[in-house]
Amino acid sequence: MKKILVIGDIHANYPALKAIQCYVRSDRIDRIVNTGDFTVYSTFPNETIQWFREKSNSISILGNTDRLILRILKGRKLSKPRKEEKRIMYFWTSANLLPENITYLKSLPEQTYFTLCKIPIGVFHGSIADKDETLFPDAPESRFRQLAKDSPYRIHIMGHSHVPYYKIVDGVHFINPGSVGRMFDGDPRTSFAILKVSPEKIAVEHFRIPYPVEAVVNGLKKNDLPAIYMKMYRKGKKLN
Ligand SMILES: [Fe+2]
Repeated sequence: MKKILVIGDIHANYPALKAIQCYVRSDRIDRIVNTGDFTVYSTFPNETIQWFREKSNSISILGNTDRLILRILKGRKLSKPRKEEKRIMYFWTSANLLPENITYLKSLPEQTYFTLCKIPIGVFHGSIADKDETLFPDAPESRFRQLAKDSPYRIHIMGHSHVPYYKIVDGVHFINPGSVGRMFDGDPRTSFAILKVSPEKIAVEHFRIPYPVEAVVNGLKKNDLPAIYMKMYRKGKKLN
């Protein structure tokens, strides 16, 4: 049996990532899969990216926030996001990323796949069909059926919606670990999943654990970033 730590939508929340690392430390993890959105909304993008650069057993893809950061760094104009407080967070991140971490981000694909115990596993930020698709667990069953149809993968690991779920539709397993670093549901705790795979069995368990939220709030304060994000982290809620 192989054990995979499934995480994503970290959004530079390194204190939450460290809390997960401490929690799973005693367990043997064969692989770490990250569904993207390393960056933006908290102040630890370098620590977050560095953590993955040091993990030879990690697999990561880019999310929409990472792609926007790379766009800014190319000198392109940003039409979205429009909200000033969001733009501040994007421009702060792009101005503070270290060159080696920019290089790492640039090296990552927008989706990927691997095989474990002969089971093909796809990794997507949105979905296999669209990297920006926000796939909630209550999306019509027909949508999951469409995505499962003709898919070469038995397991789809996805992020972007920030909602943890696990569904099996037409034999395809859809897993979203929820968000490590930017919670939308009013629960400020960090979210992740453990996927266990053997030739006979696929099992998924989700976790919500506390982490030092004030470390994120202090990082925002220290850098004079918009107070609305401090409120969001404390409440675990999207307010803009
Ligand atoms: Fe995200």
